[in-house]
Amino acid sequence: MSETLNLLVIGDIIGKAGRRALADHLPTLIDQYDIAFTVANGENLAHGFGLTGKVADEMFRLGVDVLTNGNHCWDQREFLNLIDEDDRFVRPMNFSVHAPGRGWTVKESRCGHKIAVVNLIGQVFMGPWDCPFAAADRALQEIPDDVSIVLVDMHAEATSEKMGMGWHLDGRASFVYGTHTHVPTCDETVHASGTAYQSDIGMTASYQSIIGMQVEGALYRMVQRLPQRFEAVEKGASIFATMVTIDAVTGKAVAIERIHVPAI
Ligand SMILES: [Fe+2]
Ligand SMILES: [Fe+2]
Repeated sequence: MSETLNLLVIGDIIGKAGRRALADHLPTLIDQYDIAFTVANGENLAHGFGLTGKVADEMFRLGVDVLTNGNHCWDQREFLNLIDEDDRFVRPMNFSVHAPGRGWTVKESRCGHKIAVVNLIGQVFMGPWDCPFAAADRALQEIPDDVSIVLVDMHAEATSEKMGMGWHLDGRASFVYGTHTHVPTCDETVHASGTAYQSDIGMTASYQSIIGMQVEGALYRMVQRLPQRFEAVEKGASIFATMVTIDAVTGKAVAIERIHVPAI
């Protein structure tokens, strides 16, 4: 019988509320589900905007192995230097060639299996990034052949573009998942050639919000169409995460399950 690994993926973690929910529950989830490796999206860790060494360390201490990123990557200027110092950080592979950091990394699971994490960003409604499909192909070429487990965070707005990536990498990645929209989708599946897929993991944040931000200010911008600061909601976070079970030899997914820890 082949060996399988349970991997946990957490989507966008919003500010103090998200960090606090993970401090309360992540170590227990890792034990309860026998999780060998945990990836989270860190682009909103620092009050909703980017990440600092301090908040990233909080996540690493709780058991997060790799932090992926997105369009808020450079919101905190210190991260421009920090990312080059620590290979537990990745940023989208299809950022400008001038961007610091790396688009993929390989780290070891608790049981010693090598796991690659690739980060991509979408082009639809997002920004002038390079082609994520070509970047994904390049990442898979660069990742050493002895790494069979590959997780891909496709940070994108458009569901269709994320689904396209899921099929583009079917049979070549273990799990292709979306982040960025902050809303969990219930379309988790395992594709024909063994790649697990979900359009968005969902945020770890207060859902009494507009994608993690205080309703009043966000709604003011929509209704009045005048400038207003976004402020993250700082309490009452729910955790949304997804566990994938992966065959350690082939890297193919055998199961996928959404996990929800509601706000107390
Ligand atoms: Fe986000
Ligand atoms: Fe984003």
